Amino acid sequence: MSGQVLSVASECVPFLKTGGLADVVGALPAALKPVGWDMRVLLPAYRSLRSRLGDMDEVWFEADLFGGPARVFAGEAQGLSLMLLDAPHLFDREGGPYVGPGGDWPDNAFRFAALSWAGAEIARNGAGGWKPDVLHAHDWQAGFAPAYLRYHGQGDVVSVITIHNVAFQGWAPSALLGPLRLPGNEFHPGALEYFGGLSSLKAGMVTADAITTVSPTYAEELMRPEFGMGLQGVISARADRVFGILNGVDTAVWSPEADPGISAYSVKTPKKKAANRMTLSQEFALDVPGPLAIVVSRLTDQKGIDLLPDAIPGFIEAGGGLAVLGSGDPALEAAMHNLAARYPGRVGVRIGYDEGLSHRMFAGADAVLVPSRFEPCGLTQMYGLRYGTLPVVALTGGLADTVIGLSPATEAAGTATGIVFYPTDALGLSQALKKLIDLHANSTAWAQVQRNAMRHPVGWETSAAAYARLYESLIG
Ligand code: ADP
Ligand code: GLC
Repeated sequence: MSGQVLSVASECVPFLKTGGLADVVGALPAALKPVGWDMRVLLPAYRSLRSRLGDMDEVWFEADLFGGPARVFAGEAQGLSLMLLDAPHLFDREGGPYVGPGGDWPDNAFRFAALSWAGAEIARNGAGGWKPDVLHAHDWQAGFAPAYLRYHGQGDVVSVITIHNVAFQGWAPSALLGPLRLPGNEFHPGALEYFGGLSSLKAGMVTADAITTVSPTYAEELMRPEFGMGLQGVISARADRVFGILNGVDTAVWSPEADPGISAYSVKTPKKKAANRMTLSQEFALDVPGPLAIVVSRLTDQKGIDLLPDAIPGFIEAGGGLAVLGSGDPALEAAMHNLAARYPGRVGVRIGYDEGLSHRMFAGADAVLVPSRFEPCGLTQMYGLRYGTLPVVALTGGLADTVIGLSPATEAAGTATGIVFYPTDALGLSQALKKLIDLHANSTAWAQVQRNAMRHPVGWETSAAAYARLYESLIG
């Protein structure tokens, strides 16, 4: 079977990225193409994207979309079929996609409701001679799109919402119900009401034909109060419509054989990885006798970065080293700087966002640490697998689904691809790092785990087929 999908999202590689959502939205169209699905991506025309509109065709217009005119332009860009929602009163401004100079944009509810509205309109009626069979909404930013379909006419289109992170729920006060074009009679706990207000994520979850999330384990975790963050009941109530489909990574971009920024190596020539470790050590002014670990991450509570100041000293004393690339919470940035100051030559820190450096780090390091408290999928542990940079991960979400932890059983079977620890606290991480030190000291065992890691499939093939099956089952 084949068909058309409109993907509605707020970020997309290579145009705009704040996290893994953008990687996934940018990768899905190419992943779905071989299995017969033509996916177009609808994004807001943020200021940084408006220069592209000149090369595109206007396919949709509304004179007053939440306070100003709105147009959708369609065209090809960087190998993707893009649709851009140009609504200058909502998106033509200096700043980030969600956050302005003083914090979250105060009109975020309207900004992303507008994106969702345009998505629902195009899904229902088609635009520019193209009509999707499926509307695929991503996260709270597109959550109202399935709701607009449900309440303003579904047409012959089905809808899917993917939850990439339930921590962001798109909350808005109930007074916005009417202004957001949502029906008053649906304002009850079984539909739109959420703790006295509205949540665009919940709206999407109760109205979409299917809910997916980005790993099977996270799909189960979401039904529990520790992870559901208030929405566990909503998702449990629709358990038969919930599907956990693991993300993949772009194995052409993340390839130790073909990465233009590194010294090439492969599963057959792992020793050549050493040249990359030398480059990385120089770049961070490190001189580390044992395993060199990296962190490439948003520096937030979710990612368990606060565990590092307690767990890293023992690792350093045992011969390890650490290079950190990330930005986020100022207190965590300061904690990383403190570690570097305390262990010169052993801990190096770069605060910022640097794609090229991240590639050199995965190529050069021995291990990547992902001590997340929750992780819907996570991409960096998969980059680690691919680059033979052993993932050291907490037992949660997609981390649990992608890494096979070293244990007496997996050692005997020869199947481990990394180190998995639980519980997610400083002691758990310390013990995992102790395991890493011991493994590193045994070069035969290390080489075996590294080979397993590099052979573990992390591409999109399996997941793309799963999305295709889901779309097909919904269309019937
Ligand atoms: P999340 O989306 O929760 O941040 P993911 O692991 O899914 O977590 O995706 C994070 C993405 O952002 C990965 O591609 C990772 O390499 C990248 N990334 C995070 N921080 C940085 C940084 N400081 N520099 C470069 N890339 C980064
Ligand atoms: C979110 C999650 C992350 C996931 C990404 C892409 O940002 O935090 O775990 O990999 O979305 O789905």
